[in-house]
Amino acid sequence: MARLNPWFESVAEAQRRARRRLPEPVYKALIAGSERGLTIQDNQWAFAELGFAPHVAGLSDQRSQRVTVMGQELSLPVLISPTGVQAVHPEGELAVARAAASRGTAMGLSSFASKPIEDVVVANPVTFFQTSWTGSREHVMAGVERAAAAGACGLILTLNWSFSEGRDWGSPSIPLRIDLPTAIRFAPAVLSRPSWLRQWISAGQLPDLTVPNLAEPGRPVPTFFEAYGGWKNTPPPSWEDVAWLRSQWEGPFMLKGVTRIGDARRAVDAGVTAISVSNHGGNNLDGELASVRSLPGIAAAVGHEVEVLLDGGIRRGSDVVKALALGARAVLIGRAYLWGLAANGQAGVENVLDLLRGGIDSALLGLGRSDVRELSPDDLIVPPGFARG
Ligand SMILES: Cc1cc2nc3c(=O)[nH]c(=O)nc-3n(C[C@H](O)[C@H](O)[C@H](O)COP(=O)(O)O)c2cc1C
Repeated sequence: MARLNPWFESVAEAQRRARRRLPEPVYKALIAGSERGLTIQDNQWAFAELGFAPHVAGLSDQRSQRVTVMGQELSLPVLISPTGVQAVHPEGELAVARAAASRGTAMGLSSFASKPIEDVVVANPVTFFQTSWTGSREHVMAGVERAAAAGACGLILTLNWSFSEGRDWGSPSIPLRIDLPTAIRFAPAVLSRPSWLRQWISAGQLPDLTVPNLAEPGRPVPTFFEAYGGWKNTPPPSWEDVAWLRSQWEGPFMLKGVTRIGDARRAVDAGVTAISVSNHGGNNLDGELASVRSLPGIAAAVGHEVEVLLDGGIRRGSDVVKALALGARAVLIGRAYLWGLAANGQAGVENVLDLLRGGIDSALLGLGRSDVRELSPDDLIVPPGFARG
């Protein structure tokens, strides 16, 4: 049988390969989403509603994608969004961080990630650590201080999580830890994906379902679900808490998950450097509109005061260009790189970043732009009623 070319030509193909390679529960954990999946779908379809208005001659032969985000010069306007996902690949976030470094961009590391921040910063010195609001102020600070000591060069605070449970297409069954009874229970799903299993065996590892960045000194590293339980039982933070955390962090600070203009203004008042207009990739409150629909209003309201980014639904370079034309400085990607990681490890994530870079370049060429910073709504055909007021 002919060997499959490890290179893939689209994020859709990376997803197909991830589906074939990963045991079903792991694949479903990446699909994620909530309830009916309205938001997860709108995140992607909203990009399809936006049209381009290209030029035919006088196009630019030099095209730059360089941007500065949270004080870091990046070679393309695409960053790695933090995702707390385990068991996709033995190298996990280290492979993602190396891929981002090799392509000149920043790594966002989730506090629910499977690799310690110290190792990830070595793999990519341009790492932003993402924290949620879990436990007490002291507990949040312990993780943040550890990230600072490790050399993280930015902090991301994600607050848009409402612990929604239940998906119409079924939630994956994820074990608390891997032990003998679990191995027996999951054997059929795992044995049906021999190449995934071989990868773990040759790495001499079992999927580790712990969250090392949430470990407390002198206590065992918690499992994903132990830490998740602690988060769920934490009272949600106030705007004073946001301002307090911001004041504790000396470097650039992003609030991720803003979708309302009023909240964007409060984030500015709290002193953030950047916000990401985001609905957590459709995993939070189902029925939220696509993040790109909230982008133009937020960019117009606060884009001159803070850096406005977007995440949610980015699957191709032209999506990135549409977001930038509507006011984003850069975008973050989630599932796109997770599919790449599942399909081909570090090279798969690099493949995804290369596809996005190529797609951005094609769109810039067609639009006659020589720099991503020149993009504007004039490059798009935006249907009436597209944007949220
Ligand atoms: C499986 C999965 C896990 C995620 N975990 C986190 C997380 O731990 N922290 C966080 O801030 N966002 C998390 N996100 C949200 C992403 O950072 C990002 O907002 C989202 O994936 C963007 O949408 P996209 O997947 O369509 O690109 C997660 C998303 C997915 C799909």
